[in-house]
Amino acid sequence: MIYLDYAATTPMGEKALEVYTKVAKEYFGNASSLHDIGSSAKQILNASALTIAKTLNAQAKDIWFTSGASEANFLAIQALVDGSSKKGKHIITTKIEHSSVIHVFEKLASQGYELSWLPVDASGKVDLKDLKEIVRDDTILVSVQHVNSEIGTIQDISEIGAFLNEQDILFHTDAVQSFGKIPVDVEALNVDALSISAHKIYGPKGVGAVWLNPAVEWSPFFPDIDQKKKLKTGTDNVPGIAAFATAAKEVQAELKAEHERVKALTDEFRKRVKALDFECVVEGNEKDRSPFILGLRFPGMEGQFLMLECNQAGLAISTGSACQVGSDKPNRTMKAIGRSDEEAREFVRLSFGRDVKEGELEEIIQKIDIILTRHFSKVRQGINKVHIS
Ligand SMILES: Cc1ncc(COP(=O)(O)O)c(C=O)c1O
Repeated sequence: MIYLDYAATTPMGEKALEVYTKVAKEYFGNASSLHDIGSSAKQILNASALTIAKTLNAQAKDIWFTSGASEANFLAIQALVDGSSKKGKHIITTKIEHSSVIHVFEKLASQGYELSWLPVDASGKVDLKDLKEIVRDDTILVSVQHVNSEIGTIQDISEIGAFLNEQDILFHTDAVQSFGKIPVDVEALNVDALSISAHKIYGPKGVGAVWLNPAVEWSPFFPDIDQKKKLKTGTDNVPGIAAFATAAKEVQAELKAEHERVKALTDEFRKRVKALDFECVVEGNEKDRSPFILGLRFPGMEGQFLMLECNQAGLAISTGSACQVGSDKPNRTMKAIGRSDEEAREFVRLSFGRDVKEGELEEIIQKIDIILTRHFSKVRQGINKVHIS
């Protein structure tokens, strides 16, 4: 099986696995315990926060570990909203965010906040002009993702952040699909909070982190049981966090080279897939895109059918973000960028990572070609139309 679903999750790297096992065995203490076994675990926690902080150009004290980016998004957004000293109930986000962001905003809306959806264009890009029109005197928070998980569009976070800073509006970004793939520098991005996840960068599942700007007021969702202000309570997942830091350090060291390699790989893939006898639409922004994510449509072929056929043929691809898989609704990102329900149902995502090698491109293209040829010849003979609802 050729795995092409790295945006959903990645296999753990060897070093991260080794660190996980070693820490789980040898440093199993509760990092809050005051004895030496607890202190050793605490030291590992602190060292891991420092490692993660360095990759973000941040300080270790501003890193808060969570059980993944869904929780990181929830806790960060809630902490900023609850802690905001500015009077106001207006909050803004886009319809192409990860569901964990959308759901917090919808929950806040149900609690009396006024939610505005910031539009995106046909390539999934936010226009600063639209944001300037939507913000109000009572806007307290905006959240815009760094890289879209389905079409790979990169937002101008730094520019958006600079504007929001001037307006005294808090700014959160979900950097799950950018961290470890393109530079993520909290200073340069002008954000107040940023969420990341370990399992998208060859770390363990169930581990994430939030960076919170020390210059802004925030209030934790969970009450401070032990009088210490913490974003999250509970026992820290020290082995998971140590493995996350190991993975982060590794991807950071390889960032430039891996970006170039994957860009060359996906450019070549696009060229070859476009050369086939079938129309192929590559979604997303041409200029500002992550090469790790390719959102595609073959007009006339349902995405879910293509995904199942690819699976049978030994290619693991996806019909979109894992949180939407299994839903019979048309893909949310596709709808937000103006596609019809039918076009949205054609969507498939191929996402690339460490183990996809150039030598495999021929096999991938051949398999897709065979599937498309079979499908469209049936369509032409009228034996179509495979509809999965
Ligand atoms: C953009 C984005 N944000 C958040 C998440 C959630 O991350 P986690 O699985 O760590 O909760 C994902 C994972 O699918 C994602 O792609």
